[in-house]
Amino acid sequence: MEGGPTNNLISKLGSQGTLSRFELISLIDSLDESVHQHLRRTAHRVRVSMYGNSVYVRGLIEFSNICKQNCLYCGLRSGNKQLSRYRLSLQEIIKCCDEGYRLGYRTFVLQSGEDAWYTTDRLAELIRCIKHSYPDTAVTLSIGERSDECYARLYEAGADRFLLRHETASRALYDALHPTMQFEQRRERLQALQSIGYQIGAGFMVGLPGQTSADLAQDLLYVQELQPDMIGIGPFLPHEATPLRDQPPGTVERTLDMIALARLLVPQALIPATTAMGTAHPQGRELALLAGANVVMPNLSPMSVRDKYMLYNNKICTGDESAQCRFCLERRIEAVGLYMDMGRGDSLKYLDRSGQPSAPLIP
Ligand code: 5AD
Ligand code: SF4
Ligand code: FES
Repeated sequence: MEGGPTNNLISKLGSQGTLSRFELISLIDSLDESVHQHLRRTAHRVRVSMYGNSVYVRGLIEFSNICKQNCLYCGLRSGNKQLSRYRLSLQEIIKCCDEGYRLGYRTFVLQSGEDAWYTTDRLAELIRCIKHSYPDTAVTLSIGERSDECYARLYEAGADRFLLRHETASRALYDALHPTMQFEQRRERLQALQSIGYQIGAGFMVGLPGQTSADLAQDLLYVQELQPDMIGIGPFLPHEATPLRDQPPGTVERTLDMIALARLLVPQALIPATTAMGTAHPQGRELALLAGANVVMPNLSPMSVRDKYMLYNNKICTGDESAQCRFCLERRIEAVGLYMDMGRGDSLKYLDRSGQPSAPLIP
């Protein structure tokens, strides 16, 4: 059952940690029911050897849905005039952190559209304030493209990590989907963040209209080259008020394959079981956690704004309190035999760099 050319390629990848571009494309093309289990189990084994059975948790605060960009897939795009826009004040954001801290979170992810109201000064003040109140937490930013100077000042203010998905490593696809952004610049921003010292998160969507196996291989090879601390991978899901409203969504199966392959190609990375996975399938996040993912990001945004941060249709957790998400996820994690780790959850790459012990947690 574990023979055959596809299983051999999976085993080769599992033991060597790499494949040629040609092999990767042919592997992606030949993944089907008969080999899914082998791929996912191999990825899970590698995840356990690197990070043990723990699942790290980040409290996600969606602090503004105002965005100057116009990405074709995204419900927050500036061209979507039907969306009611909001911006949380610094005090409101800090209140979310207070609640998150009480719930046990030691990482906050501050996410927004590209909203210039949050100047470098305002963001730096916010970060200082959070780090002053909660010095044992990590602050992650997910606020899009900014200048070198802004990134550097926010790092000095105490931000630890930065999520900026590359979205797709295929230039043609990137250009088609991002009328207001540039392929080169996106990659350049990721490198700038990495050289400043942030733990960085790249990532991509699976099942974008027109995306091929070669494009997905390109995404995987790009993250292998970049060696980010985190890799966010989720299915593309259409949003009704965007130009891609009638396009088919990315599939759960394909996304699980990409999560597993990312785990095998970048074993040290943190990989979230994304909200998009939970939206695409009732057990999407659990399936991801058994296919190489090891992070979850429960929502900590105030109830009043949850349904306004609508990146795609039917996003989950829009009607649930922060505490509900926290305990819902704990139950789900335990139901698949893993456990929730409430620590900062730094990447192995970062722990190696900072000289802290990062011995693999083999159970
Ligand atoms: N489907 C899936 N993911 C989406 N994102 C934005 N819009 C969609 C969509 N329609 C993802 C992007 C972005 C992240 C915050 O959410 O990858 O980087
Ligand atoms: Fe703005 Fe990000 Fe949505 Fe693009 S994906 S429109 S940058 S919020
Ligand atoms: Fe939000 Fe389950 S994670 S309700």
